Amino acid sequence: MPSTPPPVTRRRVLVGGAGVAGACLLAACTEQRPTPQGEATALGSLEPGTRVVALADVPVGGAVSATLDGHDVLVTQPAEGLVHLFSAICTHAGCTVQPADGELDCPCHGSRFALTDAAVLGGPAPEPLPEIPVQVSGDDVVLA
Ligand code: FES
Repeated sequence: MPSTPPPVTRRRVLVGGAGVAGACLLAACTEQRPTPQGEATALGSLEPGTRVVALADVPVGGAVSATLDGHDVLVTQPAEGLVHLFSAICTHAGCTVQPADGELDCPCHGSRFALTDAAVLGGPAPEPLPEIPVQVSGDDVVLA
């Protein structure tokens, strides 16, 4: 005798809906964050001469956030005309590092990085942010 599926009840629909919602939450929790190493590889493969930002947009003694080919980066200018580009992906747990007062700060667990070489100034980050070579070309900062 063929079995028939159980009738759909209000309770069964609610439980099923919660299961789907739980699966979606789980998927969001396991979403892959970019890694500093992966970002460095991707950024390092971009064409030399690619424009990053206007030099005038990078404060002397500070930094600016930018997006380069879909990757979060930080451009710093510790001294006038001296520029650096770092991946903004924190080496601790992958949060996006932000420009701060004379340094680069991670909002997640408080790691701090230097403008000149992204060396770790404090916090749990184990390594500096990866650097990608850049230079000034005319009015712009471009990949070297
Ligand atoms: Fe940056 Fe933890 S992810 S300090």
